Amino acid sequence: MYSPLLELCPRLGRALRPLPLVEGPTAVEPLARLSARLGRGALWIKRDDRTSPEYGGNKPRKLAWLLAQALARGRRSLVTAGAIGSHHAVATSLFGRRAGLRVCALLTPQPVSPGVQENLVSHVALGTEVRLVQGTADLPTALARELVRKALGGERPMLVLPGGSSPLGTLGFVEAGLELAEQVRAGACPRPGAVVVALGSGGTAAGLALGLALAGLDVPIVGVRVVPRSWLPPVLPRLLAQAAAALLARHGLPSALRAAMRLRLELDDSQLGPGYGHATTAALAAIERLQEDERVELEPTYTGKAAAAFLARAAHAGPHDGPLLLWHTFSSTPGPGRHAEPATHLRLPSGFHRFFGPVPAARNDPA
Ligand SMILES: Cc1ncc(COP(=O)(O)O)c(C=O)c1O
Repeated sequence: MYSPLLELCPRLGRALRPLPLVEGPTAVEPLARLSARLGRGALWIKRDDRTSPEYGGNKPRKLAWLLAQALARGRRSLVTAGAIGSHHAVATSLFGRRAGLRVCALLTPQPVSPGVQENLVSHVALGTEVRLVQGTADLPTALARELVRKALGGERPMLVLPGGSSPLGTLGFVEAGLELAEQVRAGACPRPGAVVVALGSGGTAAGLALGLALAGLDVPIVGVRVVPRSWLPPVLPRLLAQAAAALLARHGLPSALRAAMRLRLELDDSQLGPGYGHATTAALAAIERLQEDERVELEPTYTGKAAAAFLARAAHAGPHDGPLLLWHTFSSTPGPGRHAEPATHLRLPSGFHRFFGPVPAARNDPA
């Protein structure tokens, strides 16, 4: 299995081997038409929408480690959380089930769109035990209660943090950073001036920054915030990268601690708009631009906002800024909800039915 992280840190592989969920390295491709249109230097994309033919995006990289740990600990089930349209909840359920694990997902409301409905209804086909939690602030208590409830029933599920952003899950993106550095070294793409990626729970950007620092590639990761500061305090991605570095150091890679001192991680707060899951005009315009020029499909909650920041940077780039790389994180393979029969949502617990009134059809089927 291709794993630049295990090559660098073989002792880690003796403790835990990630499940082979990711078909890597994912391609790096030039965005030729878009670059020509903007005329401000080269634009590139990292195709993590194709990490897996079953369900791609950024989740398989984290779940490869998290599910391996659940199995190594002899767990039979997982408890996780997210918003009702969470890609993380869908991916955890899909890959968890493949690994023989039952999945319970606590889900909170968010603005409804066809993509959100599609992800929510995926849980019917996946057999996820879904529970509605009224607000994000209630999640910690609801998670604790669910774990206790299950423990009283004799079950010992593993908790998978929202977005899979624990230090262990973050290792999936340390590996992704090493993968990009190797592609630059091999000439598959030029050294980027910056890498732009959506920032939700933080593990993706944190892992990438640590991976590039470990590889000695001095390139900033720009995490485009799609959640409010109250959900993700600005210090958290850096702390997550440091915790991932400490984990690697415990497995014989002390250079990870030095790399964590050299992180190049910037947060871009310009695209959040009214809040998580609210489409912005800039995100919708960016989705359309990438779709028209490059046939790249994005959605408005994460990748549309990252692409809006990417285009804004490209528009202001100077001759010495170097190529910009957009890290795609949204699965190009839809979840099982895409092909659900009408009224499948009625098989969800009744509290979820109110999310299935008519919603305006949005371009590119936003999630
Ligand atoms: C499509 C997509 N992109 C980006 C992200 C953000 O990644 P992270 O939570 O690691 O910051 C998510 C998280 O759920 C996502 O679903």
